[in-house]
Amino acid sequence: MLATNSPINLSGQRFLPPQNTAPNQAILPLTAQVNDQDHLEIGGCDVPQLVQDYGSALYIVDESTLRIACQQYRDSFDRYYAGEAQVIYASKAWSCLGICALVASEGLGIDVVSGGELYTSLQAGVQGERIYFHGNNKSTDELRYAYEEGCTVMVDNWLELKQLSAIATPEHPITIFLRLTPGIECHTHEYIQTGHLDSKFGFDPNQLPEVFAWVAEHPQLHCTGLHAHIGSQIFERQPHQDLTSVLVDWMLKAQAAGLPITTLNIGGGLGICYTEADDPPTIEEWVKAACNAMQKACDIRNVPLPKIMCEPGRSLVANSCVTAYTVGSQKQVPNIRTYVAVDGGMSDNPRPITYQSQYRAVIANRMADPTTETITVAGKHCESGDVVLKDAQLPALQTDDILVVAGTGAYNYSMASNYNRIGRPAAVLVQNGQAELLIRRETYADLLRQDRLPERLA
Ligand SMILES: Cc1ncc(COP(=O)(O)O)c(C=O)c1O
Repeated sequence: MLATNSPINLSGQRFLPPQNTAPNQAILPLTAQVNDQDHLEIGGCDVPQLVQDYGSALYIVDESTLRIACQQYRDSFDRYYAGEAQVIYASKAWSCLGICALVASEGLGIDVVSGGELYTSLQAGVQGERIYFHGNNKSTDELRYAYEEGCTVMVDNWLELKQLSAIATPEHPITIFLRLTPGIECHTHEYIQTGHLDSKFGFDPNQLPEVFAWVAEHPQLHCTGLHAHIGSQIFERQPHQDLTSVLVDWMLKAQAAGLPITTLNIGGGLGICYTEADDPPTIEEWVKAACNAMQKACDIRNVPLPKIMCEPGRSLVANSCVTAYTVGSQKQVPNIRTYVAVDGGMSDNPRPITYQSQYRAVIANRMADPTTETITVAGKHCESGDVVLKDAQLPALQTDDILVVAGTGAYNYSMASNYNRIGRPAAVLVQNGQAELLIRRETYADLLRQDRLPERLA
């Protein structure tokens, strides 16, 4: 386990991880510390210096935190599961060449949900057999692409079954899993619940007996697994434990119908700490709970352990990354609020405006300053709701301060847009005092890449 020497409780901004913190329980990356210039350092790199070198806004990814999260998933399954296990990274959380390659180098497979994510993973050097293709409305072209690359397709509906049965042949069958809606609710934001019955994803349980019989009659479909995903940013262990029983029961029914099911995929969903109010289990605690539940579900039914799979996104990448912004203008609304604006916002992190998500931030160039102010950090987009942090406790801010928002590795870059024609930020990977570019900053020319000016308008 990587340790930092940083005190937890600085006089001012106190989100530095204590020693032995799990990646999904730290707010800042595990290597975060304060250097003798009173600057935040991540991966041995001085954050204000990174902003000078690479510009602002800037995503900064700590390689150690990301690798440790991968290792904790892998090692926990080794420790707590007597059968085979496979962890795959839900690349929707952040799909780019460097992240896919790094995660794959830790032995994880990759979950993709579009031809674009599949292309990214393949270009990152991930073999098709380690890629799992999800999605509720894959096109015929996407299904053919996945088939040709030797991926496993997580089939969501009848249309896909029929399309795949026309694409694959008995001589060259396609490996599929069937996704089902397990009817498990969990207490998370309404938009990110996917396992309850009123969901666009997966087969309704009522359909499954017919689906099993149909698949069993189609030798071009080699169905080896079942899959369910019940939601995201989940802090309870019980929903995934319940899910193991639901999946084992369906596995037995599928096997009785003649399907060679050997793998059960319990999805992703483990939560992380965005703020001190969040209290997720560690990766190890979550894996242990899921493994024990699977063991128990199999013991009770007296059946051998299946291969277990899970597909975390957020708990792998979120806390490995921060976004550094430069502070610009300020506006005081007397007796109401102080707004401080930064050079980014909803186009690089749409989660606050979409889900009212909360984050924590520090001032990277004055880490010891006490948090004396209540400040609303606004983005620079033309939307009143473009607020990065509402009523945050921060030191007094000045123009050109570097505000660092923690926990931005998941669903930030991957949901980023060019709203207001603002280019998406660069991303750097930091490790041992070295920074390497993962994503180049978009230029004005990039913004016009797809534009065509009809000649008569020129
Ligand atoms: C099917 C599926 N698997 C995995 C994930 C990853 O979830 P998380 O990032 O919460 O781990 C998602 C995201 O919602 C998903 O839809």
